Amino acid sequence: MTRHFLADDDFTPVEQAEVLALAARMKAAPFAAKPLEGPVTVAMIFDKPTLRTQASFAAGIAELGGHPTLVDGALAGIGKRESVADVARVLGRQAGQIVWRTYAQRAIEEMAAHSGVPVINALTDEFHPCQLLADLLTITEHKGTLAGLKAVFLGDAACNMGNSWALAGASAGMHVVLSGPLGYQPEESMVERARAIAVVTGGSVSIEVDPRAAVADADVVITDTWVSMGKEDESAARLADLAPYQLNAELLAVAKDDAIVMHCLPAYRGKEITAEVLDGPRSVIWDEAENRRHAQKAVMAWLQDRR
Ligand code: CP
Repeated sequence: MTRHFLADDDFTPVEQAEVLALAARMKAAPFAAKPLEGPVTVAMIFDKPTLRTQASFAAGIAELGGHPTLVDGALAGIGKRESVADVARVLGRQAGQIVWRTYAQRAIEEMAAHSGVPVINALTDEFHPCQLLADLLTITEHKGTLAGLKAVFLGDAACNMGNSWALAGASAGMHVVLSGPLGYQPEESMVERARAIAVVTGGSVSIEVDPRAAVADADVVITDTWVSMGKEDESAARLADLAPYQLNAELLAVAKDDAIVMHCLPAYRGKEITAEVLDGPRSVIWDEAENRRHAQKAVMAWLQDRR
């Protein structure tokens, strides 16, 4: 059966570890593996803005011996001019894999149900699983391990990154703390879904409203923009509500002395994170951005082996 990567828990904890190990090997020898040799075409569709995702997928597909082709979602009119199912059937006859950044999770699930080829979530409103694999690879590089580490996600914990941190961090056996005010916390069903994984891996998932209590003794402190794509009309309220969750030097001081700072970018210095912290010695954000390519190459190679 064709496998897809639509949400972080589409990989079991064992599979997640396999993919991360493959990503590390691919980073060490970027041109050694050619599972997309042919070249296999990978269709990339972006319905929302992107820099890192399109650049890292395009470079990664080329390094794997494949051919990236950008399908203009607006021109194709996916779900408007033609149903998602029919687009999936057509793209599945032209491409060996499909990478899609879109809005609704149910749309990418429909694409996967009808494509006949692996579909990869390049961000939806609900999840950003490729980012999480890059983040976990980066943490492994800097900390040597994942299981048992305390990772704190600050700010809008109800966003796709909060959800993905809950699922992927739990899969890796980490202790994930999601810290945001009421109204910015993940749905209870998402927390329960992550906790069911954590029971197996020895990790944990908790919610903490107080940012100082959340960050205390953290190994990894993560934040993201307070105004996710599609939330622009809520900007003023979000900046006010989330101000106490700014990742600044004073807050970072309560984390462990060797804690690292992560941000999936784009970042807004002076809002969710200060320039001092983002550009400071604890920040691993540029490694994190680079690791998108290595992690996604591993995902594509892994899925290609299981068509
Ligand atoms: N972090 C991330 O997904 O970056 P882009 O939105 O630029 O692709």
